[in-house]
Amino acid sequence: MKNKVPIGIVGLGYVGLVIAACFAKLGYQVTVVDIDEEKCKAINEKRSPIFEPGIDEILKKTPFKASMNPQDLADAAIIFICVNTPSKADGAISLEAIKKATEQIASVLKVKKDYCTIVVKSTVIPGTTQEVILPILEKSGKKAGQDFGLCMSPEFLREGKGINDFMQPDRIIIGEYDKKSGDALYDLFRDFKAPILRVNLTTAEMIKYASNTFLAAKLSFINEIGNICKRLGIDTYQVAQGMGYDERIGAKFLNAGVGFGGSCFPKDLKALIVHAKELGYQPKLLEEVKNVNDQQVLRMIELLKKHTSLRYKNIGLLGLSFKPGTDDIKDSVAILITQTLLAEKAIVTAYDPQAMQNFKKIFPQISYNNPDEILKCDAVLIITEWEEFSRLDYSKTKIVIDGRRVLKAKEALIYEGICW
Ligand code: UGA
Repeated sequence: MKNKVPIGIVGLGYVGLVIAACFAKLGYQVTVVDIDEEKCKAINEKRSPIFEPGIDEILKKTPFKASMNPQDLADAAIIFICVNTPSKADGAISLEAIKKATEQIASVLKVKKDYCTIVVKSTVIPGTTQEVILPILEKSGKKAGQDFGLCMSPEFLREGKGINDFMQPDRIIIGEYDKKSGDALYDLFRDFKAPILRVNLTTAEMIKYASNTFLAAKLSFINEIGNICKRLGIDTYQVAQGMGYDERIGAKFLNAGVGFGGSCFPKDLKALIVHAKELGYQPKLLEEVKNVNDQQVLRMIELLKKHTSLRYKNIGLLGLSFKPGTDDIKDSVAILITQTLLAEKAIVTAYDPQAMQNFKKIFPQISYNNPDEILKCDAVLIITEWEEFSRLDYSKTKIVIDGRRVLKAKEALIYEGICW
């Protein structure tokens, strides 16, 4: 039996939350530190602070502790940094939160007697762990590679599928400052059934950006093919199916539609573009991946305008979250669609099974209603492919513009798919 070391986590976003829950489920003693009192309270009351399937069940069976006091990490042998690195106005990432979290950890290192390994999980631009995180940690008076270990291990889990993705990863990347640091993390992950790749810190950071921007590129590619298919009267999904049998291409992540959103792809794409330019390289492909995605949203509105004017028309939105299975609306295409419709003086009513509360915070001026009422609007836009939208009765709906290929909606009097 391997020795189960105490684990510390800083940050209760969905990555920190999922990692904490999964290690607790695996029998580790886990302590999470966050500056948000409400989130800590929720964890200590065995409730998930955000909507992520499976977390509540784990909290009930194998609870873990959340605290606002970084000194509660004093016993941890491995500390994961999982705070967010949001976009700044210029597209670069803000390091404010991660610097603060690292300072908190440095204050723990200062008084800590035994060796512990700090692992950056947050997505950071290549070079950040070495050039920003390491100097802050060494302000504790302790030396990396000697008194404490330092790793960068990017996380690839998806929102809404976090537990499964964490427990059954495709790969584990260990970026290590030195061999001893990497060994500590390797020991923690060696029982996972996944290839483990050990590289240096900067390479690990780049693997995360390359992976996310590649997936974003795959989506913009199939959306562009989809826009051409639409003009040819072809169903892009059949084309994607035909392509997907080729193992070099792969069948996954070829669902054309109204474009990608979320906390990661748009942010990571912008950050890598900005950084490439700082390095003196013009990343033309990445810029077009972003442009195709930005324009995809407006295509929904173009299609809608083919069938109706917008001024004072009731337009219904089905789906607000950036994808099904989450209440997250970060960079959801629903935001730009709503802004555009409101600018054109349309009257907007929306429904989402999970995300209406979050959407109301940005758009208190629109109406929210149940799906049956939405279907009575002058026109309906399908923005997120929640499963329940495939069970609605569209037969009396006047116009549906479908951004996610909910084929049941073809019952509507007028139906248009964005890429089919
Ligand atoms: C993404 C990556 O998939 C994860 O591997 C990564 O860990 C995560 O970002 C992150 O960096 O934290 P996530 O943002 O949760 O995960 O969402 P995805 O399931 O990848 O979907 C992203 C967007 O692409 C959604 O808006 C979705 O609707 C869209 N999408 C996805 C498509 O339009 N078509 C597809 O075929 C797949």
